Amino acid sequence: VGDKLALTPPMGWNSWNCWGLSVSAEKVKSSANALIEKGLADYGWSYINVDDGWQAPQRAASGEIVANDKFPDMAALGTYLHGQGLKFGIYSSPGTKTCGGFLGSLGHEGQDASTYQKWGVDYLKYDLCSYTDIIGEDTSLAIQQKPYIIMRDALKKQQRDIVYSLCQYGIKDVWKWGAEMNGNLWRTTEDITDTWESLYDIGFKQDNLYPYAHPGGWNDPDMLIVGMVGWGESLHPTRLTPYEQYTHISLWSMLSAPLLIGCDISKLDDFTLNLLKNKEVIDVDQDVAGQQAKKVIEENNFQVWVKTMADGSHVIGIFNLNNAYASYGLKLSKAGINQLSTIRDIWRQKDLGKHLSDVSFNIPPHGVRLIKVTSPPTP
Ligand code: GLA
Repeated sequence: VGDKLALTPPMGWNSWNCWGLSVSAEKVKSSANALIEKGLADYGWSYINVDDGWQAPQRAASGEIVANDKFPDMAALGTYLHGQGLKFGIYSSPGTKTCGGFLGSLGHEGQDASTYQKWGVDYLKYDLCSYTDIIGEDTSLAIQQKPYIIMRDALKKQQRDIVYSLCQYGIKDVWKWGAEMNGNLWRTTEDITDTWESLYDIGFKQDNLYPYAHPGGWNDPDMLIVGMVGWGESLHPTRLTPYEQYTHISLWSMLSAPLLIGCDISKLDDFTLNLLKNKEVIDVDQDVAGQQAKKVIEENNFQVWVKTMADGSHVIGIFNLNNAYASYGLKLSKAGINQLSTIRDIWRQKDLGKHLSDVSFNIPPHGVRLIKVTSPPTP
């Protein structure tokens, strides 16, 4: 219990970006089944997280939270998921209401934590939302932290390890105190949507947060917006171009971000499936050192980010932010590499030979070249 959870960023699926408030146990099970049938579970995708919309309009007479009729038996759902080798995530808010207007945990935190334990819950996303109505203008740090401390202490009392996901959009620099809340991940931004602007605004603004990511505590730039997304009723293929999707998964992996697929898994096309099943890319995200990438170069509408891996190698992402194909020549020394090094294209899983000083790539619009640079040990 406590500090030994999520030693690598959690990977799995969350219902919000595709089902919104129309989530149901059937949809959740079908996602879980698809995750296994499509082979994703074999790559580490393992959390099945029910987001907002599972709660009944009223608590039981005892005060216990109950699920609505779209979720006839939460404990059975937990058992089902565990039987498939998956983990079970749930969602609540510290206020009276969740963001979607369902019942929150205010005044029932201990009771809710023990209900989650009873249901076999492995992960809680705790979303600030209507708590802001309670605190009004008072946005001091102590007031922001209070609800997260209450739930932290309630979770601590359970006999079950429950990953604690703080969702309060980065208010009061949550990355500085999320770990103190026993948070395993903390949202750093507002909600993501499936547009380049949203991806750009969120993903490329995470560079100053690298000191705060560590095994057991991760910056969370929100979920993956690939595949069929659209908040329930208006499911549509992501509006990100294929190149932007490469950028999305590459950047999130370099950021050591939690990877939560937000689409209808049963409708995954082969392209998206291949994005999510590239072992070498996932290995970048799941690296045990848990070091978030740093932005080292920004020029000509290119950004170069570097992530230091546990084995001493460096993963370099060269991102083309231009709206057209463009070439970029990288001086390896500017990325901290000063020796003859082996370069591997990670997406293509192909060695590109040994290089001493410069490498040059022609990169598609909003696309990326992701390379791993392995240098011999310094004599
Ligand atoms: C907020 C969160 C989303 C989702 C919804 C649910 O907007 O940021 O990720 O959980 O609430 O209502």
